[in-house]
Amino acid sequence: MPAPSLHVSRHPAVLHKLAILRDENTEPKKFREVVRELSWLIGYEALADVGVRALEIRTPMEPMTAHQLDERIGLVPILRAGLGMVDAMLELMPTAQVWHLGLFRDERTLRPVEYYNKLPDSATVDLCLILDPMLATGGSATAAIEVLKKWGAVRIKLVNLIAAPEGVEAVTSAHPDVAIYCAALDRGLNDRGYIQPGLGDAGDRQFGTGRAD
Ligand code: PRP
Ligand code: URA
Repeated sequence: MPAPSLHVSRHPAVLHKLAILRDENTEPKKFREVVRELSWLIGYEALADVGVRALEIRTPMEPMTAHQLDERIGLVPILRAGLGMVDAMLELMPTAQVWHLGLFRDERTLRPVEYYNKLPDSATVDLCLILDPMLATGGSATAAIEVLKKWGAVRIKLVNLIAAPEGVEAVTSAHPDVAIYCAALDRGLNDRGYIQPGLGDAGDRQFGTGRAD
């Protein structure tokens, strides 16, 4: 049964772009372009409930009450693959802070290994969006959420492109307060922890670092 905090986009533009992203013939340049476009679309959905406050302005016609953002937003891309999602999210929320977290998945144990974290002593934002194209076992996402909660983050959302049910279950059982936004919920993981049908390795496909054999 889908987790109550899971939001899977059904937008036709998302479905169309996903086909390009998944296709094994899509080259890194096009892949990066589609990661960016999908991030914009999913990010837009994830940001739908951000708080705003009233702002008095004048149009050329008359005064009016408009709105401005009332929450400090932090974007937390998980290196490397999350990097490709940052520019689109900054277009949506130009005043957001970007805090990078370096985590890679040990391909033998499938456990996350932290290698970069420059967060200051206490939280500087009201809402954190963790950016990572892939939610597989959920190990990396859970580790990132734990880091952010220790930092003092109160409101956290996870923005993915493709999620596996195993990852959704791992995140929602450990952190039911964290909503997950994604473009697709796939069938499951293979014995190497890769999402099926998935898209392969999101980092390698963005940065052209896949093995040549
Ligand atoms: C990928 C992906 C996630 C993680 C997902 O990163 O971008 O961070 O794996 O897997 P999990 O849910 O099982 O933890 P990877 O470790 O391959 O690092 P990379 O981005 O540097 O390629
Ligand atoms: N990381 C990826 O990049 N792809 C997967 O399918 C699983 C983890």
